[in-house]
Amino acid sequence: MDFYFDFGTDITPQHTIQEEPITVLEQEHSIPQDLLANYLVQVKKERFSCSISKTETSPQNISLEKVLIDNPVELLRHEKMKNNDVIPQIYEGGFKLWECAIDLIQFLFHNNLIPSMNGKHLLELGCGHALPLISILLSSHPTSLHFQDYNREVIDYVTIPNVLLNTSQHTQLTSLCKFWSGDWRACKFGDQKFDFIFSTDTLYEIRSQQYLYNLIKQVLQKDGVCYLAAKSFYFGCSGSVATFRELIQKDGVMELETVCKIKDGLSNIREILALRFK
Ligand SMILES: C[S@@+](CC[C@H](N)C(=O)[O-])C[C@H]1O[C@@H](n2cnc3c(N)ncnc32)[C@H](O)[C@@H]1O
Repeated sequence: MDFYFDFGTDITPQHTIQEEPITVLEQEHSIPQDLLANYLVQVKKERFSCSISKTETSPQNISLEKVLIDNPVELLRHEKMKNNDVIPQIYEGGFKLWECAIDLIQFLFHNNLIPSMNGKHLLELGCGHALPLISILLSSHPTSLHFQDYNREVIDYVTIPNVLLNTSQHTQLTSLCKFWSGDWRACKFGDQKFDFIFSTDTLYEIRSQQYLYNLIKQVLQKDGVCYLAAKSFYFGCSGSVATFRELIQKDGVMELETVCKIKDGLSNIREILALRFK
């Protein structure tokens, strides 16, 4: 899978990063109940099977749907969208399904972590298609699930339809879900704190790593865990697992552990990271 980022000419060295103003404020989205049936017939879908074998003898298959976007969203018409997967501060990549999302699902199932989500408050930051949180929703009994993406268009045209598609047999599950869009610097989630936070393929830029980390520190329960899945290096981008680790070490409040490394020889080396308060 190749990734293209439009960082123009302004990749600034870390020590001179200027904070950009927040242009995308937090917004809560509700599922348009009256349109629910229309959504289900309108969206194109791709069946997506994630085969997870915990042991040789107990394979578990989760079959997920992936929305194929076919909507005249203003953002999709943006000139730069033709050649880029990310346009910083405008579009942060949520329309596309990125590969670390699958790594995280496999890690959670392989390590039998799903039952520990029962009764818990869960958050996925930068969710896009939100396959990790949807897989958990279908396989455990959390108390609440909060889905967040930078772009409101992604929440309305990808995240909500994808949750609806995957839960169409269990419509009562959607009452557990809350949807939010906005810049990480503006997110508060109604002051809810979370037992588990998930985030995949969100460490590609140094500047936003700081925003992501600040938000995790603010909304993670003191005994909670945040699982991140990321490429060790994002070629052509400023962010990497090493730059994220460095900022956490400098802050000294939380600790970051690499709990799994994925070297499949097919793509970049990828990691599952666990972030906790010390
Ligand atoms: C590359 S996409 C990954 C989408 C999804 N997690 C996946 O793996 O398919 C990166 C995501 O990070 C989020 N993101 C990046 N920078 C952000 C920022 N400054 N504030 C809020 N969200 C941001 C966006 O929501 C975007 O969907």
